[in-house]
Amino acid sequence: MSVTLVKVTKIFTDQDDKSKEFTAVDDVNIEIKEGEMVTFLGPSGCGKTTTLRIISGFEKQTKGDVYIDGTLVNDLPANKRNSSMVFQSYAIFPHLTVEENIGFGLELKGMKKSQIKSEVDVIMRTMGLSALGSRQPSQLSGGQQQRVALARAIVTKPRVLLFDEPLSNLDAKLRDQMRTEIRRIQQQFGITSIYVTHDQDEAMTVSDRIMVMDKGRIQQLGTPFEIYSRPTNHFVADFIGRANFFSCMVKSVSDVVTVEVNQKQYQFPAFNKDVKAGKRATVVIRPEGLHIQKNSEQAFFNGKITEAVYLGATVEYEISVKGRTEPIVAISYNPVKEGLYKVGDEVGVTFDPISAHVIL
Ligand SMILES: Nc1ncnc2c1ncn2[C@@H]1O[C@H](COP(=O)(O)OP(=O)(O)OP(=O)(O)O)[C@@H](O)[C@H]1O
Ligand SMILES: [Mg+2]
Repeated sequence: MSVTLVKVTKIFTDQDDKSKEFTAVDDVNIEIKEGEMVTFLGPSGCGKTTTLRIISGFEKQTKGDVYIDGTLVNDLPANKRNSSMVFQSYAIFPHLTVEENIGFGLELKGMKKSQIKSEVDVIMRTMGLSALGSRQPSQLSGGQQQRVALARAIVTKPRVLLFDEPLSNLDAKLRDQMRTEIRRIQQQFGITSIYVTHDQDEAMTVSDRIMVMDKGRIQQLGTPFEIYSRPTNHFVADFIGRANFFSCMVKSVSDVVTVEVNQKQYQFPAFNKDVKAGKRATVVIRPEGLHIQKNSEQAFFNGKITEAVYLGATVEYEISVKGRTEPIVAISYNPVKEGLYKVGDEVGVTFDPISAHVIL
C-alpha cells in the first residue's frame, strides 16, 4: 500500500491560552511507495511522532490530506486504516503467553481457533519464536519481547506498519540485531513501513529512503546514500555524520560550480539549483573526503594537527587552520599508504572533488 501526505500541517493550540499556537508539522509532502520502508529522522521534538500519528489516524492534521493507496483517509478512524503500530514500549500483555499475545489481534477479528493457531505458528517460525510459544512475557528477554510485539503487529497482515522508536528500550547490541531483523522481516513480507527514530545509524540500516526533519519541516528526502553523500543543507550535513564546512564565493554556475575558497578556485558538480554566481555559498566535505599530506602551496588548506587518534584501520585527525574557528576533521582510511602524522605536525589538506559539493 502506498501512503501519500499532501501539504500536511499540524498546529497545536495551548489548552490554557488558546492564542498560543505551535506548528509541530509544517507542510509535509511525501509519497511512500508500496513495499517501501521510509524512516522519519530528526532531533527530539521535530515532529516525527506527530506525523506518524497523523498517518495512523490517532491524530488529525490541521491542514492537508492523507491518502492510503490512493484513497483519501482524512476522515477514516484509526481502526479502519489497516495500519499496525509498533511502539517504543512494546506493551505486550503480561498475563498472556507468547502465542496468545501474537494471536490476540486475529482473535479480535473473529478468526477460527484452528486458523489462528496455524497463522501464529508460521509467524513464530519466521521470527525464531517457536520454542517460546507457551512462555509468559516475564520469562523473555527484552529482545524476545520486542520480537513478540513485532510478530503481533505483522500477523494481522496490516497494509502499513508504523514503528515509533521501537528499539530505544533495548541495549546497544540487541538494537543492532533487531534493526537487521526488522528490515529482513519487512522485506520478506513486503509491507510498506514507516519507521521513526532519532538514531542515524538505525535510519541508515533499515531504510529505502530517509526523510530528515527539523522543526516540523522536511529538510531532505532521499536514499541513505543521497542523504549522506549529498546533504542539501547545513542541517542535514551536520545531523547525519560529520562534515567540514568551507565558506566560498560562487564564481560561475554551469554543468559545474566554480567557487573560490582560500584564494583558490575549484570546480564541483552542480547539485544545488539555488547556488548562484556572485553569491556566497558553502563547500561541504566529509572527513573521509579529505587527505593529509606535507604542507604545500597547492594544498586546499595548510594547518597544524591538534589531535590524532589512531584506530588501526583508520586515523582521525583534527587540524587547526589560522583564521578558522572550527578545526578541520579528516579521516585517513589507509594509514599504511597515506602515512601517519602526529600532533604538532604542519600538514596540508587536499580533497577529491567528487567527495565535495556546494550548498547554500
Ligand atoms: N498534544 C500536543 N499538544 C501540544 N504540543 C504537542 C502535542 N504533541 C506534541 N506536541 C509538540 O509538537 C512537537 C513535535 O512533537 P513530536 O512528538 O512529534 O516530536 P518527535 O519528533 O517525535 O520527538 P521525540 O524524538 O522526542 O519523540 C513537540 O514540540 C511537542 O512538544
Ligand atoms: Mg517521538
